[in-house]
Amino acid sequence: MSKVLQCCQLSKSYNQGDIETKVLNNLELSVDKGELLAVVGSSGCGKSTFLHLAGALDTPSAGKVLINDVDIHQLSDKARAKFRNQHIGFIYQFHHLMMEFSAQENVAMPLMIKGEAPKKALLAAKEMLEQVGLAHRIDYRPSQLSGGERQRVAIARALVTKPSLILADEPTGNLDSDTAEQIYQLIRSLNKAVNTSFVIVTHDLALASRMDRQVKLVKGQLQSFSGQSDAEVNDNQATSDSSLSTEETAKADSAVSERHV
Ligand SMILES: Nc1ncnc2c1ncn2[C@@H]1O[C@H](COP(=O)(O)OP(=O)(O)OP(=O)(O)O)[C@@H](O)[C@H]1O
Ligand SMILES: [Mg+2]
Repeated sequence: MSKVLQCCQLSKSYNQGDIETKVLNNLELSVDKGELLAVVGSSGCGKSTFLHLAGALDTPSAGKVLINDVDIHQLSDKARAKFRNQHIGFIYQFHHLMMEFSAQENVAMPLMIKGEAPKKALLAAKEMLEQVGLAHRIDYRPSQLSGGERQRVAIARALVTKPSLILADEPTGNLDSDTAEQIYQLIRSLNKAVNTSFVIVTHDLALASRMDRQVKLVKGQLQSFSGQSDAEVNDNQATSDSSLSTEETAKADSAVSERHV
């Protein structure tokens, strides 16, 4: 099957003075076209760092990222920006909306950058905002929206171009369970309709278990993750925000197989 994303020997270190922090260490990953992949891992393990490299928002210290067989870090800045706009949707951990624009304008922006006529782009943005339950907020600016509403605008902005790959950093982190379910259904329907692949970083094990495959970031590498054992499900249900506590993370760690992916 053809691949939408391939990471080969991907490494990233940060240097602060003399101290080097190795966050990703020869990470390997291959995602099929149309696959829904969940990435879990404890806070600070490098999940956002990994997504930023996969989405060409940051450069690796070593290794390669191929998206639809294109080595994205070899492209010029201009070509990379164009490639991102055409192939990748990115949902940031913190929404990164443009504060001076309305929700509708924020969502329309990637289409206009792609060359769509403004009228058409604004109409498509309106339809996408309806799908994330924000029909009544299209004229609001980010400062007039709640945290969860901003996150849904950011989700709509990533989905509006119907890219082949969507990289999402905690897309349901600030949402109530009904809205999170709505977003999950939207992900599934887009996946079914246009074969969009998703790589979703999440602390929500229930959401992770509903993806096609789960991997866990441990010591700078991705390992296959068996999903939820009964004990993990019970632990998860007992946690009001269904995020991974340190104890759950430790249990999940022990459920991880050693096979790299
Ligand atoms: N620009 C930077 N300079 C130095 N260190 C950084 C930088 N960005 C991230 N780090 C470090 O890299 C590590 C991984 O950070 P990252 O944001 O990828 O974690 P994460 O898994 O997304 O965590 P969380 O679940 O809390 O969002 C952290 O220890 C962080 O301090
Ligand atoms: Mg993060």
